[in-house]
Amino acid sequence: MKPSAIVLLIVAPLLFSSPAIAAPPHMQTDTGFYPYAPSLLKWEKTEAEFTDPETCGECHPEKYEQWQGSMHAIAFQDPLYQGELNLAATKAGHDTTRQCEGCHTPAAVVTGEIKGPGLKGLSPIALAGVSCDVCHSVKGHTHWQTPSHQPENGSLILSPGTGEEELTKYGPTAPDEDCGDGFHTCIQSQLHTSSELCASCHQVFNHRTHTPIEVSYQEWRDSPYSAKSIHCQDCHMVDTKTFKRSADELVKPDRTEYRHYFNGANLFLYNLTALAAEKKGNKELAANAREKYDMALARLKAAAELAVSPVYRNGRLAEIRIRVKNIRAGHNLPTSLTNIRQMWLEVTATGPDGKVLMSTGSLDPKGKLAKDTRIFNTRGQDRNLNFSIYPWEIESFSKNETVPPKGFRDVFYGLSMPEKTPVTVHATLRFRQAAQEIAEKLLRLVPDPGHLEKIYGIKEIPLLPVVDMTETTVVINTP
Ligand code: HEC
Ligand code: HEC
Ligand code: HEC
Ligand code: HEC
Ligand code: HEC
Repeated sequence: MKPSAIVLLIVAPLLFSSPAIAAPPHMQTDTGFYPYAPSLLKWEKTEAEFTDPETCGECHPEKYEQWQGSMHAIAFQDPLYQGELNLAATKAGHDTTRQCEGCHTPAAVVTGEIKGPGLKGLSPIALAGVSCDVCHSVKGHTHWQTPSHQPENGSLILSPGTGEEELTKYGPTAPDEDCGDGFHTCIQSQLHTSSELCASCHQVFNHRTHTPIEVSYQEWRDSPYSAKSIHCQDCHMVDTKTFKRSADELVKPDRTEYRHYFNGANLFLYNLTALAAEKKGNKELAANAREKYDMALARLKAAAELAVSPVYRNGRLAEIRIRVKNIRAGHNLPTSLTNIRQMWLEVTATGPDGKVLMSTGSLDPKGKLAKDTRIFNTRGQDRNLNFSIYPWEIESFSKNETVPPKGFRDVFYGLSMPEKTPVTVHATLRFRQAAQEIAEKLLRLVPDPGHLEKIYGIKEIPLLPVVDMTETTVVINTP
């Protein structure tokens, strides 16, 4: 080999690691078919326009109230999202942030209204994020034509109406001829009763390599819930009692039981929504967001169970085993932003004299977790296998310790004890949506520096709520 060829071999990988990295050949996106790439949305463009949620709410007031204050309503205004979007725009450019916007405010992407981070000067439909008319204009999907041949990055077809400015809304039943009161016509859509509707947005893939990053749909599809036709709607579009029944008995809710709550686990944002509403003097919305907070709390507290048991070696207690069971989440626990969400075990073992023999998983006053804590999350890596939490960087995962649906994960703690000494073990499964420093970093990146004070009336970033999902105390008597 000539020396120049050797130089080229050494230099070539460096050249290709510049910011504009091409997709690998087997994962290239057909930009003719997907004009909004890296978002995989499609739009059947006609004279018919998108409608803002307030207008839909005039005739569908309960649905409007249920959707309001939900994470879908604030998907675009969410300051954590705005912070990360701002970072993405700086680090990867606006062509990349279209991927984010395609899921966080789809209508404004296809109409071309969205030009970058920030809330200024935007129409109500852009600000409304995942609004009524996003979901009810979904005519179909292109899940199997995507580069990964899976639902990803917003692979939905939006069609708010037909050529003659007629609005067509897709729903589960299309009750009768007059459906829509002359404002819109109704088309029955099986898609709206299926997880496939949610799939395209609840599957975040790296926009270049099409590596799966957040995969709630895939986790659900491979679960016993999918096998029994218990879809996302059957847990997330019903109240807490009905969700528990869907999860425990694997029976579908009655048609009259569906609600537009889309309730998940985002306690911090429900809090912020309530603060913003109070600041504006909207007491109703504040109460609404607090109700959704309580609902999310109940959901998290219903999701898991713990079991503690001793492990003996040579007749002596050697270890304690804690089994973390995912009893009611239709996907892994936690799901979606698993490289950011934190679910961990706090465990203390005490001897007969009350002496602490072992303690792990506690938080310090600044909200930092002890280093030896067992966290049930994933760890994203960039192309050089360095730790990353950003969707435009993650290309693989170095670990995945989330708990599969109706499955469990065992954790062992070494604890050797002399014979006949009882040990009391107290274990708590705790959850928060992010490490305090990550939330603070993203919130500080919000485009407009006065944002948090102007909208939410807060000067300091509050501690993120920590939930005790479930706990148990067991006394182990070594024979
Ligand atoms: C395929 C659709 C999709 C794409 C693309 C997408 N997101 Fe999201 N994003 C979601 C969903 C769904 C959630 C909610 C998951 C959850 O709550 O667990 C979410 C949650 C988030 C959150 C957490 C918000 C919170 O309050 O905890 C942030 C931050 C975020 N996204 C930023 C981004 C950025 C920045 C991009 C682009 C680089 C992006 N997202 C691309 C669908 C998407
Ligand atoms: C994230 C997607 C999504 C959003 C956002 C959404 N919907 Fe729905 N909607 C659905 C799904 C899915 C169903 C079907 C649930 C079922 O099986 O009843 C539905 C059902 C309906 C129905 C018919 C069901 C019935 O019981 O009569 C109406 C009317 C409706 N939605 C109106 C609205 C309005 C108004 C808004 C905004 C305030 C809205 N939707 C926001 C997904 C959505
Ligand atoms: C002028 C009143 C009016 C407005 C405005 C209106 N709708 Fe409706 N819509 C109705 C009526 C009436 C029905 C039939 C009864 C029912 O389901 O509530 C209906 C039914 C529906 C259905 C149910 C179809 C099914 O399969 O059960 C959906 C979905 C829907 N509307 C969505 C929307 C969306 C989205 C908007 C805003 C873009 C909207 N509607 C605006 C009056 C209206
Ligand atoms: C157009 C894209 C889109 C569609 C379709 C969609 N979602 Fe979402 N969903 C989002 C985004 C974006 C967020 C997160 C907003 C945020 O955290 O800022 C979200 C948040 C959620 C959350 C709240 C998570 C939390 O942490 O509280 C739940 C639950 C949820 N979606 C369920 C559903 C279900 C069920 C469906 C189907 C009926 C659905 N979604 C359809 C984009 C979508
Ligand atoms: C059997 C009931 C069940 C089904 C089915 C189900 N979920 Fe969930 N989901 C839960 C529970 C319980 C939680 C709260 C615990 C957690 O965060 O995982 C949750 C949480 C979530 C969250 C919030 C995660 C976070 O940390 O912010 C999202 C997003 C979500 N689900 C989306 C979906 C989607 C999309 C589907 C369908 C593909 C689905 N879920 C199906 C029960 C269910």
